[in-house]
Amino acid sequence: MAATNITEEQWAVSAGYLAKIREDNANFAVKNGRTRLAHTETYGCQQNVNDTERIKGMLSEAGFGFTEDASEADLVIYNTCAVRENAEQKVFGRLGILKHMKEERPEMMVAVCGCMVQQEHICEKIRRVHDHVDLIFGTHALWRMPELLYRTMTEKGVVVDITDSDGTIAEEIPILRDKTEKAWVSVMYGCNNFCTYCIVPYVRGRERSRRPEDIMAEISSLVAGGTTEISLLGQNVNSYGKDLELDIDFADLLRMVNDIEGVRRIRFMTSHPKDLSDKLIYAIRDCDKVCKQLHLPFQAGSDRVLKEMNRHYDKKQYLEIIDKVKREIQGIALTTDVIVGFPTETNEDFRETLDVLSKVRFDSIFSFIYSRREGTPAAKLEPVLSDEEIHRNFNELLELQNRICKEKNLEYVGRTEEVLVDGGSKTDKNMMTGRTDSGKIVNFEAPQSLKGQYVSVKITGARQWSLEGELTER
Ligand code: SAH
Ligand code: SF4
Ligand code: F3S
Repeated sequence: MAATNITEEQWAVSAGYLAKIREDNANFAVKNGRTRLAHTETYGCQQNVNDTERIKGMLSEAGFGFTEDASEADLVIYNTCAVRENAEQKVFGRLGILKHMKEERPEMMVAVCGCMVQQEHICEKIRRVHDHVDLIFGTHALWRMPELLYRTMTEKGVVVDITDSDGTIAEEIPILRDKTEKAWVSVMYGCNNFCTYCIVPYVRGRERSRRPEDIMAEISSLVAGGTTEISLLGQNVNSYGKDLELDIDFADLLRMVNDIEGVRRIRFMTSHPKDLSDKLIYAIRDCDKVCKQLHLPFQAGSDRVLKEMNRHYDKKQYLEIIDKVKREIQGIALTTDVIVGFPTETNEDFRETLDVLSKVRFDSIFSFIYSRREGTPAAKLEPVLSDEEIHRNFNELLELQNRICKEKNLEYVGRTEEVLVDGGSKTDKNMMTGRTDSGKIVNFEAPQSLKGQYVSVKITGARQWSLEGELTER
């Protein structure tokens, strides 16, 4: 079934509350001689970063200013992640600190939103242990935040909205982005894959694709504002369009974005190996603006573990896809995600993961130790390896990959690369940093005025995680 957008009337209600908050904030400013300030913190993936940009868009429209310092904020919002336990622990730790702050400044409002609180047991725990939290809302309540916040400002007691997704998409939410030169654009929300270890489908709901005209309109307005690099975002972009009543898939969408004048670079994540089509490989190859970089998580090398993870491919199929990708797209940079210590993974299984790393030689990887997520099928499995063995395997994996990373980076030395300058060094004002088409970080001496520009950089050195270079022209 196609996702529907929320109605104009629904958004009008939210916009009405934004206006009411704005009025209240204006009165506050007159009375106190300063603007009310909000402080946001984001945990987790780009989806959450993108949601925080929407939260800031709404807050800005409601007349809030922003501060990096929670201790001077009138409103603190934590946008949380549930993918691993340590992400949740961090938030609980921060809430503990806020408790003391709130004792000194009881008028400070504390809100927790995002994936973590979409789980009922976590929401209950926060209410039980952290009664200084004033507002809790899940991922599906984002567009209702204005009403929830208004109620928090005017009512006593905690305001909670963690209702499940009704399958709608809210296009109207305003957005305030941190960067101009690069922007993330969500093309779809949710996930249908139910990998047995993963909480994301439970906290983000089923797949919902945005209508292509909405995506195109957002990108066109970004380009008009000076953005040149677009990263298309979804938990599994290869499923894009399957739920739309249109004949369109992700490869078609890439080609449409490639045709937008003013866009210079296109990236996307994440792809699932089970449905990486030839059509998509050809689109990456043929579209001149699509960066020659592919993030293709394989998670584990053992066929039995992959089956128990519900990944729908085996090691041989994964390696075949990689071979095809390397053959069709010369010089493509490859990255992946790996989980070490899935409950039934033995030391022998783990060797298969190392074998995939050696065979593919990824440019970089994101590796995680398995974290048990309540409510997922894998949470019921008994671990076969001890924590100590899992950590030993994890370290072995890092050692192997670090060596490969360094070797891959050394291949760049002597080449000249086009780099989008996206920031400066915090310690040395003459040093700037940027990324190559393939996504490598390059540090080089350049004036700050080059931020947002594409420059040509000769690579002179390679480190573990980055390259060093010299500007060759402007
Ligand atoms: N949709 C994306 C990313 C999902 S979350 C994808 O499928 O690739 C990002 C990564 O976190 C996953 O790829 C996986 O490697 C890791 N991950 C997810 N659940 C995990 C868990 N319970 N323990 C450890 N790592 C996990
Ligand atoms: Fe999680 Fe799998 Fe969906 Fe990725 S594809 S979000 S790992 S369930
Ligand atoms: Fe992302 Fe974490 Fe939610 S990885 S989708 S923020 S659980």
